[in-house]
Amino acid sequence: MKYPKEYLDEIKSRLKVSNVVSKYIQLKKRGKEFIGLSPFKNEKTPSFTVNDEKGFFHCFSTSEHGNIFDFLMKTQNLKFGEAVKTLALQAGMRPYTFSKADEEREKAWKEYAGIYSDYINFFHNELLNNPDANKSLNYLKNRKLSLETIKNFKIGYVRKNLSLFGNLENKFGKKAVKECGIFYFDEKKNTYIDRFRDRVIFPINSISGSPIAIGGRIMEKNSFFAKYINSPETQFFKKGNNLYNIDKARILSNKLNQIFLVEGYMDVIGLNNNGISNCVANLGTALTEKQIKILNQFFDEIVICFDGDESGYKAAVRAAENSVRELQPEKQISFLFLPEDEDPDTFISKNGKEKFLKYYETNKILIHEFIFENLKKQSNNSPTSLAILEKKLRFLSNSIKDQYIKKYILDFFLGKISQLTPNLSKGKQFAIKHVAALSETKKIYNESISITKEQLQEFSILYLIINNFNFFKNNSNLLNDLSFITVDGKEVLSKLTKIINSNHEINLDMLPIEKSMLEKINKFASVKHISKNIQRDENKLEEIFYEMKKDLKNLFLDKQILELESRFSKDMDQSTLDEIIELKKLQNNN
Ligand code: UTP
Ligand code: MN
Repeated sequence: MKYPKEYLDEIKSRLKVSNVVSKYIQLKKRGKEFIGLSPFKNEKTPSFTVNDEKGFFHCFSTSEHGNIFDFLMKTQNLKFGEAVKTLALQAGMRPYTFSKADEEREKAWKEYAGIYSDYINFFHNELLNNPDANKSLNYLKNRKLSLETIKNFKIGYVRKNLSLFGNLENKFGKKAVKECGIFYFDEKKNTYIDRFRDRVIFPINSISGSPIAIGGRIMEKNSFFAKYINSPETQFFKKGNNLYNIDKARILSNKLNQIFLVEGYMDVIGLNNNGISNCVANLGTALTEKQIKILNQFFDEIVICFDGDESGYKAAVRAAENSVRELQPEKQISFLFLPEDEDPDTFISKNGKEKFLKYYETNKILIHEFIFENLKKQSNNSPTSLAILEKKLRFLSNSIKDQYIKKYILDFFLGKISQLTPNLSKGKQFAIKHVAALSETKKIYNESISITKEQLQEFSILYLIINNFNFFKNNSNLLNDLSFITVDGKEVLSKLTKIINSNHEINLDMLPIEKSMLEKINKFASVKHISKNIQRDENKLEEIFYEMKKDLKNLFLDKQILELESRFSKDMDQSTLDEIIELKKLQNNN
């Protein structure tokens, strides 16, 4: 349950961090702060600081950081609620009683999870032990599922003529059973009917492992009934927020980098049955941003592996367009298209784990490549068609939230388009020839990893200057307070400033700058694509230039602060700390 902010703030305002911490650690006052030995590490020189004014502790050797609640949770291994209770007591406050609505929700949740849990356990047991369920057990065995897999996924079978409604009602109350979604009301018969009767059922768990919904499959082909039905959405089950098997898969993220995202229950189960457990399903609905976010939290690479049919392809297109905006550095989304009419379950059942993984290695395609290939298929080489293609690709790139990835993906797309239009792309934008477009994010990302943030920022600024010499000649004051960080950057900047301040004609082909440096600037200046659009708008240019100057300054401050922090962790000197605080102030004002 969520505590109101006012209540937590009241606790914080009554308790100094140093008071809370000093119950566990010996603190020594140093200037405005306190220091002591870190509770997170064995150390001889203190690197743990407490600042009452700010309400924080900070450990320089482990980077642990937080307020009084965090301190108790991290050092005493308490849950948030327990930490709040302990500290409220210490602050002389009454324990918080939650509102009626909170209590009701908590109670409703316990009943809801209880109903699902009882229902699932009961019918799982039936499947395993009741001879009446033999038909369904055989069905699953014919689908090559091992007993271990059946148990692992708690698959069950709901008998036709056995309703648990009454038993559950007695235990959890009528209201809760009516609302849980397992039963629906039949007006004609004036009674509650089990919607999963005569179906094999698959429990769906929340991320923390409580059962919150069910999917049920009929065993015989039948055009009258839907093959699968699922629990309806309830206050505790929202389809787009959940993934089938996420509770088990997330635990594997300690060991494995990638997660296979498939369409159906049986795909997850089939993959597991063949030794691939890092998989989840979105259960035939459109993939949501929320689902991508959940997966990104745990895994570096999401492999979307939908069925090898038309609807699978269409779902993949939609998934690509929905998930591209969630791309982040060091995270990857790729697609795997199976041979026609196969799904992950049929493929792995026929071919086994090794062949599946081999197929994955050779056939996966990165999300931006897939997006490009798919859109390209829909266009021909006519100028209008290409214009539409470019527009769509720009639109998609623009939707990417991470600025860094946004630029690289746009670069990739524009590079690809320029390959389609070799005659158009001989622009005279830059003094040197177009540097071949890089073929995939990962590669360009890796290359850029060896380039520091400071370099990237400097490249962008240099790029702007080189491409707008006349503007900067007329506004040379803009360059006055520009200072670079890297040695190479400084050198180029000083040469350019000299040229700008001289009265000589500028010849872009004769810049006294090394070609390799120019190439790097051209390749990595992330401002490239923006600058194309603003060339004639001097106000915009000035604005962007100003922003970039500010960013560079912040990077510079970041770097200095980092150095000082590492020095402080060794010398624990008040003056170092003061310097850090000063720089942080500057940074906030910037
Ligand atoms: P599929 O039709 O691809 O089923 O639907 P499947 O996973 O291959 O199942 P098997 O192998 O035939 O048993 C994929 C997913 O779409 C949802 C289900 O979640 C299913 O797992 N679906 C499908 C429904 O909700 N209702 C349906 O009628 C069909
Ligand atoms: Mn299938």
